[in-house]
Amino acid sequence: MFLSRRSLQAEYFDSERPVAELTEFFRSLNRMNRLFRFAQPFQSLVPSLLGENNCVALSVLDVGAGDGSLGQVLAKWAGARGWRWQVTNLDISARSGAMNGNGRNIAGSALRLPFRAASFDLVIASQMIHHLSDVEVQQMLREAWRVTRKAILFCDLHRNSILYFTLWLIFLFQSHPEPFRADALLSVKKSWKTGELRRLVLASGVAGAEVRRYFGARIVVQGTKTRLKE
Ligand SMILES: C[S@@+](CC[C@H](N)C(=O)[O-])C[C@H]1O[C@@H](n2cnc3c(N)ncnc32)[C@H](O)[C@@H]1O
Repeated sequence: MFLSRRSLQAEYFDSERPVAELTEFFRSLNRMNRLFRFAQPFQSLVPSLLGENNCVALSVLDVGAGDGSLGQVLAKWAGARGWRWQVTNLDISARSGAMNGNGRNIAGSALRLPFRAASFDLVIASQMIHHLSDVEVQQMLREAWRVTRKAILFCDLHRNSILYFTLWLIFLFQSHPEPFRADALLSVKKSWKTGELRRLVLASGVAGAEVRRYFGARIVVQGTKTRLKE
């Protein structure tokens, strides 16, 4: 049945592509991200996970950060609240990181984070984990848990037909390069359902992490290391 199992097919942009194609890809991705308010889950869930008082100054690692757009939006949003969030962007593609000229960008793999234990207050990932296999997502979770001091928050797409056909409809009206459209639809097919991801998180051994659905279209892995909320 349609979407009953997650697809393991590689996306077009899983391979390194020329800068001109990547530039177009991130232009389209940023347009869709604005439409779907991709920063909103982080703006809502981080303060509720950590407690507002613990959000005043945060060092954040964004894993699979792409061109670093999420970090820019979050740092600006936090700044407007008088908070200082310093974001480090990590991506397996050095070309993607280089598109964020002003940011702190590191090329590296989510499966072997090039940082010591407890290097960041918070480790986040947006629309990145669906790029991984079932085994790899557990490895990434263990790595994120190792390098965070306080919390992790991963947000991705939930595999469901309403989201798939919503994207398909949007692409009838919005013009995007064909490889981007194909990857976006494939991303939904590659994502997890809540129960599937919950089983993987449980098997990872990271006891503090939990999985929840977020407003229908998204799935979230979240966890705090200590009781921080006041
Ligand atoms: C769909 S993009 C998401 C970009 C951004 N986080 C966002 O929400 O718009 C997925 C990103 O994950 C990166 N990625 C995929 N596998 C990775 C891995 N194993 N380690 C680090 N980054 C990875 C890709 O290079 C790509 O930039």
